[in-house]
Amino acid sequence: MRTRPLSALRKAIARPAAPAASLKPRTRTGAALAGVLVIGMAGSLAMHQAPLPAAASGGTCSPTITTTPFGTTIEPYTGKPAQVFQYTLTNCTGMQVKILNYGGIVQSIAVPDRHGHAADVVLGFQTLNEYVSQDSPPPPAPGGPYFGETIGRYGNRIAKGTFTLDGNTYTLPINNNGNSLHGGFVGFGNHVWAPTVVQGNGTVGVQLKLVSPDGDDGANVGCSCTGYPGTLTMFVTYTLDSSSQLRIHYTATVAGKATVLNPTNHSYFNLAGESSGDVYAQKVMINADSYTPTDKTQIPTGVIAPVKGTPFDFTTPQTIGSRINESDPQLLIGQGYDHNWVLNRAGLQTGQLGLAARAWDPASGRELTVWTTEPGVQFYSGNFLTGSIVGISGHTYRQSAGYTFETQHYPDSPNHPNFPSTVLRPGQQFDSTTIFRFSTF
Ligand code: BGC
Repeated sequence: MRTRPLSALRKAIARPAAPAASLKPRTRTGAALAGVLVIGMAGSLAMHQAPLPAAASGGTCSPTITTTPFGTTIEPYTGKPAQVFQYTLTNCTGMQVKILNYGGIVQSIAVPDRHGHAADVVLGFQTLNEYVSQDSPPPPAPGGPYFGETIGRYGNRIAKGTFTLDGNTYTLPINNNGNSLHGGFVGFGNHVWAPTVVQGNGTVGVQLKLVSPDGDDGANVGCSCTGYPGTLTMFVTYTLDSSSQLRIHYTATVAGKATVLNPTNHSYFNLAGESSGDVYAQKVMINADSYTPTDKTQIPTGVIAPVKGTPFDFTTPQTIGSRINESDPQLLIGQGYDHNWVLNRAGLQTGQLGLAARAWDPASGRELTVWTTEPGVQFYSGNFLTGSIVGISGHTYRQSAGYTFETQHYPDSPNHPNFPSTVLRPGQQFDSTTIFRFSTF
């Protein structure tokens, strides 16, 4: 496990950041802080007021941001080399987040344990070359873990890589068991996004911009398919505050044609530290009474199934490992947890933040709380990590080295009219927020 004393993190040198370019309120969710009933680690009920407004905490200390060159790579849209930067966001409680403008990637999140010792709690790579060649490499070596990536245009699977919209049939790269996964051959995760440092209101962060052309992930990536329709202008903004909240804010518009959009962040958490081994002893609560079971190729059947009485019931905290090896057919399909939970959002408006999930590591005392405006979350227990990847600190990642909370609309929504819509039309503004909040118990 990589641990660093708190004092080392606090010594991080801050360079004055560029002027805040976009702190005007663009979110529909900012004012929508709701008191929500949650179940605590011990299983007791408690009122949990969250997430915390950034400006309400931090005292006289302010978070800082530094920018470091991280190498160059070929940008697939232009075929030309582009500079990649690493943004280091540090707050006053010893939390430090590293973001790359390559792939909109969260490279590391260091947070203190109950004794103040920081460890990196997400899986990642050390170098740009490893992200380019292993995270989600395009053909001829497709696949990969998607560590920390901003996923798009479509998070998770679209059945047989096809959907119809406004009477037109669109086709996408097939890259996963006959289906299209996480955007296709290139997706959002292999592009160099245009960065702008943002700060103010007790937060620091970076806004990343990508313009995805009409037909993206089609002919332009060597696919004999149509790709995604419409020219999409996408922003993802990461901000860190003094309440140890990493906020991810997505906005987008599309021009020319309607499209489908379902971005998410693909960080794998291990609250004991990214090199600590499997996560089976960590506890998870998911605020969902139902989930979307899949067929054998991991496409939702369309059924919204209750979790009660199944290994998918995380309405009260359960260790990840306690039921993962049961012979439930859905667990066999996913080789563990790899499903979309339908979040309980009764009483919440569209665009309002609601509690999605919580996780606890009993050994370190680290706790993660996930809030989102999205209707679903993909809880994936790292089942397909096979020991072929060496991570950021030199440790080999094996099955269940980490788990994701991919806040999202449901997989394959374009082919399921009964699922909440993922269609974005010209003139509409896409707006989605997810917060990862770290604390100790
Ligand atoms: C998918 C998994 C996949 C993983 C990494 C998850 O979102 O549901 O099936 O293996 O991403 O690609």
